[in-house]
Amino acid sequence: MRLAVCVSGRGSNLVALLDALSGSAKAEVVLVLSNCAEAPALDRARERGIPAAAFTNHRDASEWIALLREHRVDLVVLAGYLKLVPAGVIQAFRNRILNIHPALLPEFGGPGMYGLHVHEAVVASGATVSGATVHLVDEEYDRGAILAQARVPVRQGDSAATLAARVLKAEHRLLPAVVLAAAEAGHPVPLPEPLELPA
Ligand code: GRF
Repeated sequence: MRLAVCVSGRGSNLVALLDALSGSAKAEVVLVLSNCAEAPALDRARERGIPAAAFTNHRDASEWIALLREHRVDLVVLAGYLKLVPAGVIQAFRNRILNIHPALLPEFGGPGMYGLHVHEAVVASGATVSGATVHLVDEEYDRGAILAQARVPVRQGDSAATLAARVLKAEHRLLPAVVLAAAEAGHPVPLPEPLELPA
């Protein structure tokens, strides 16, 4: 399965995915795309010899589709991609776009719920459990079918930053698990609950 990974910033989920896929005969990251030419994640890809590019216009579906077709991409993975995917791309790649979100959807998702805002809202809510969700991407932010979740405790005294760090570790195991399962099945599949993640 040929993967494109879309990123906006640091790229730690991209690196976790690349590490998990190294040596896999079933899935390969063939392209990394960003809305931001300065995203450190693009450097993480280039260091490993993976083609990496910033969109000229991230709102232009035809630019996305041309790149995805040129690289014969089967599955698109949003790993810290902060912009809306154009509707034309969602139509062209229906059920073949995944996103990772740093909370237990359907709670704490939707417009404006990204980065530390998510964890601030979780801490403020008094929830005792948070986590990460991988879901299919449709036309609405954070609303597509959920494929897998990993739970993480919210501890007394947690700040958004300490919770974010704990959730991120779970993200780094959850996203590769879902991608590897998709590669095995030939298309995205839900993972069993509760999920046993490798340490
Ligand atoms: C992750 O928490 C991801 O869930 C969210 O943005 C963050 C990206 O981190 N959508 P990184 O760029 O993968 O390090």
